Amino acid sequence: MIEVRGLVKGIGRQEILRGIDLAVAKGETLVIIGRSGGGKSVLLKNLIGLMQPDAGEIWIDGENIIGLTERKLAAIRLKVGILFQGGALFDSMTVEENIAFPLHEGGERDPKKIGEKVREMLEVIELKGEEKKMPVNLSGGMKKRVGLARSIIRRPSCVLYDEPTAGLDPVVSDSINQLIRRLQKRFGVTSIVVTHDMKSAFHVADHIAYLHEGRIYFYGTPQELEISQDPLIQDFLLGRSER
Ligand SMILES: Nc1ncnc2c1ncn2[C@@H]1O[C@H](COP(=O)(O)OP(=O)(O)O)[C@@H](O)[C@H]1O
Ligand SMILES: [Mg+2]
Repeated sequence: MIEVRGLVKGIGRQEILRGIDLAVAKGETLVIIGRSGGGKSVLLKNLIGLMQPDAGEIWIDGENIIGLTERKLAAIRLKVGILFQGGALFDSMTVEENIAFPLHEGGERDPKKIGEKVREMLEVIELKGEEKKMPVNLSGGMKKRVGLARSIIRRPSCVLYDEPTAGLDPVVSDSINQLIRRLQKRFGVTSIVVTHDMKSAFHVADHIAYLHEGRIYFYGTPQELEISQDPLIQDFLLGRSER
């Protein structure tokens, strides 16, 4: 569903991604871990065409997105929902207006259809009854869920999550992890989850990739990662700083 080949990206004089190769099968969840500042968010931005790579290929559902026109990219973005770190809700809109926003943007005008879809999303994110609230009155976890509902209301076949549990307490993090799992099961979405929360990684991943110095240093199942004897991997898992 998603395939990245030889992806290279520099920003200014800094080489961020030095040749990334990755593949995510349809319906599976790939977790990308790695040190802060290592280029995980940059990688996600390349995947949806918000940033242009210097070299390489990015295949989404059989189409190489490099060099596509803005119009074709817009079609790709319908297939790929992204949940940014902050959730990025509109403060002046209620929960339901936030969730419905992509439908309006997509030209949907039928209030009945919009209402139905918003209700379905509220059920999925377990926030029924909160639809009239303003973002300022929501907890961090609730904001994340609303942001997620907004990212998936147009039913993308892929969802990219940038640090979905950052800044949340363990209990709320756990509920977000369960929600990621539920979306995978219910809608069969293909996902990439960027995180440095190892508990979250083990909870949601079918495969885990460790990004290190601009390359995928390790790729395997959570079980394979757990038993890895590689010193770099062990340092990362134990939260030790680089020797
Ligand atoms: N828009 C940008 N302009 C300049 N530098 C950037 C920009 N985005 C990211 N960077 C730099 O790229 C590197 C990787 O950033 P990022 O992908 O956000 O890391 P991560 O998500 O793994 O923590 C960092 O050194 C960051 O400062
Ligand atoms: Mg980041």
